Amino acid sequence: MFRSRASLGLAPQVRQLMAPKWSHSVPAALMVHYNVPGVRNYSQKPFPVGSKEFQEQNNLKKLPKWKQWAIYFQSNEFKRGMTIYYVCGFGVMCVAFYYYMRDRYYEDKQLKHIRAKYEEDPASLSEYEYLKLKALSNDKLKPREQKKYRMYQMMRKEFRRKHIWDGEAMFEPTPQDLQEWYSQQARTKTSAAVTEDDVRSENSAEENSQETTRANDNSAICAPQDTTAFFEEKAFDYDNEVKWEERGILMGRRRRWLMKQLRGDVLEVACGTGRNIPYFDQDEVNSMTFLDSSRNMVELAQKKFRQKYPRYANAAFTVGRAEDLVELQGSEQVKYDTIVEAFGLCAHEDPVLALKSMASLLKPGGRIVLLEHGRSTWDFINNHLDFRAPKRMKTWACRWNLDIGELIDDAGLDITYEKRVHLGTTWMLVCKRPEDPLALEEKPFLDKLFGRETKGIDKGKR
Ligand SMILES: C[S@@+](CC[C@H](N)C(=O)[O-])C[C@H]1O[C@@H](n2cnc3c(N)ncnc32)[C@H](O)[C@@H]1O
Repeated sequence: MFRSRASLGLAPQVRQLMAPKWSHSVPAALMVHYNVPGVRNYSQKPFPVGSKEFQEQNNLKKLPKWKQWAIYFQSNEFKRGMTIYYVCGFGVMCVAFYYYMRDRYYEDKQLKHIRAKYEEDPASLSEYEYLKLKALSNDKLKPREQKKYRMYQMMRKEFRRKHIWDGEAMFEPTPQDLQEWYSQQARTKTSAAVTEDDVRSENSAEENSQETTRANDNSAICAPQDTTAFFEEKAFDYDNEVKWEERGILMGRRRRWLMKQLRGDVLEVACGTGRNIPYFDQDEVNSMTFLDSSRNMVELAQKKFRQKYPRYANAAFTVGRAEDLVELQGSEQVKYDTIVEAFGLCAHEDPVLALKSMASLLKPGGRIVLLEHGRSTWDFINNHLDFRAPKRMKTWACRWNLDIGELIDDAGLDITYEKRVHLGTTWMLVCKRPEDPLALEEKPFLDKLFGRETKGIDKGKR
């Protein structure tokens, strides 16, 4: 602590009197000329009262605080101090940049190694290497693969931190390593977004396609049930109850996007009261079939459609469950160019079976277009969805914490377009069957530019 020469020999009470009352409100650098306890005094005059500087300081202290700071920021003291901060900041940035570039260098080195392995024998790639190559190629990772890849990347970060001085160390984890690492992490923090089951299933996409139904693995998701009776009762109040919420989050725009995707012969599954009907473009659609498991809902949709498009002849209205689509068809086997669904998967008893049934009714090159709500991209939102799941089920017969991406995966479909809005809880998806090729507009930019086929990463027989 520095004391002014003038104040050293004085009694504490006198020193207190001499200290300006504003000493707390003015930046320290502005007070160096005065007898402020605790601040170094450079003044040669022991009693500067009445001096020019003192007057200036007095005027200064009358200014609002933000102005005092503004003047301080323009002072030479501040600028001199800042030079040091700039130099230090630049140094820190250089170090961070060095480590970042070093990491990129090692990653590139490893990628070359993976590519060489792939050229030699695709089957020799480990799960991580396959995911890494796929993530960097035009081949889109499936939702479950994406989750696992994110976890591998987290594990990789930790690996690089541990091997910070070892340039030769290659990150080559096995699925077992990932599982062990994950269990270690899970002991310290639980991630709502990733379940242990995600880690365990090494070859999830293939496994899943063999299972009839594989519900999301989260125990916070309510047990599935047939919600037909609930919506049968709700039908007449449905529009009134959802309209304000939908207006509040501009859902009309999303519904418009959904209906813009319709082409040729169209089937709308879980049509409800026909909330998408206002966005229907009759010029693009040859025929339109509406289906819902609730008779009241179908009747309301039919009334709405007939009022809006009285001359449109190729419209049909059917009562039936999405899971039974194939049986409903009987021997007729009508196929569709587009199958569309809005907020239906959360209400189905078996959403995976419903998706599979939809896929089997697609014409070659047909698309399933979905506007759904489900898990978010944010953990804190997912925690809320999980916490309120039972209440939501009771009031809306809706399982709003389902992971829609996993349902698509489990149904064995490919996603060609994905957009998430409303903090990631609203999913806008276009899906296709794996055997159908990508349409021109769905191809990655370079493939589109050169008119070439988009080649996926060959998994090889592992
Ligand atoms: C939340 S509402 C959505 C309605 C409408 N698509 C919309 O966007 O407003 C869910 C709808 O799915 C229907 N639904 C529930 N389970 C079904 C099933 N297994 N098959 C077909 N429709 C079903 C309900 O009757 C209800 O109309």
